Amino acid sequence: MKKMLKMRVDLITIFPDYFAPLKLSLFGKAQEAGLVEVEIHDLRSFTLDKHKTVDDAPYGGGPGMVMSPVVWGDAIDSVLRQAKTKPVLVVPTPSGNVFNQEMAIKLASFEHLVFINGRYEGIDSRVVEHYQQSGEFSEVLEISIGDYVLAGGEVASLVILEATSRLINGVLGNEDSVTDDSFAPGAMQNLLEGPIYTRPASWQGLNVPEVLMSGDHAKIAQWRKDEAIKRTRKFRPDLQS
Ligand code: 6GU
Repeated sequence: MKKMLKMRVDLITIFPDYFAPLKLSLFGKAQEAGLVEVEIHDLRSFTLDKHKTVDDAPYGGGPGMVMSPVVWGDAIDSVLRQAKTKPVLVVPTPSGNVFNQEMAIKLASFEHLVFINGRYEGIDSRVVEHYQQSGEFSEVLEISIGDYVLAGGEVASLVILEATSRLINGVLGNEDSVTDDSFAPGAMQNLLEGPIYTRPASWQGLNVPEVLMSGDHAKIAQWRKDEAIKRTRKFRPDLQS
C-alpha cells in the first residue's frame, strides 16, 4: 500500500449542476472511499444585489460581459478561509498553457485544488493578478484544454479533474493502466496506443492478429510497439521524436 493522501477540490461556478458527473464512476467512487473531497460553490451566493449580478460591461468596449473581480474575490476568499493547507488556484481559460499528461501528474501531487470557472468573456484579469501576488495560493495555473473556444470553464475543469484524479493512488483500480497510458512518461514514450482486441477471435469477417494468440510475449511486445509507431506516424506525426 502506497501512502494515500486525501485531495481536496473546491469548484466555484454559476452552474453547480455542470459538476453532477463527479458523482459517477471513478471520481464518485474516489469520493466515497475518502480519497477526494469535493465542494461546489455557487458564485451567485457571493453577490450583494437582489439580481445576483456577476458581470458587467468591459472597460474599453467590445462585445460580451466581463465577470466582476469583487464577486470572484469574495468567493475565493471564502474558500481560502476554510483551507487547511495552501491551495493551488486552477484557472481554466483558452488563453492559458495547453493541458497535457505532465500537468495532470503535477496536479495530482497537490493536496488542495481550487478551480474558478469563468463564463461570458471571462473574469476581470486583476483576479489572477491579485492571487498571484497575495501569496495565499502556492501556485496560480492558467490552463487551456486545447485550441478551440468553449462557453465557459466548467467542461475544461471536468477534463482536468478527470485526467488528474485517476492518477491519485487508489483511485484507479489497476495502477498498471496509468504507467501504460499513451502519454505517460516512461512506458510507451510519445507513442499512441495501437489496436486492442477481445473475444470473439473472429467478428464480421475480421480476425484478431495471429501474433496475439501465439503466447510469445517478446513477439507480442514487439508487434505492439510496431503498431504504436504506425498509428503515431498516421495520426500524430508531431509526436515523433
Ligand atoms: Cl479552459 N475555457 C474556455 N472557455 N474555452 C477553452 C478552454 C477553457 N480551453 C480550450 N478552450
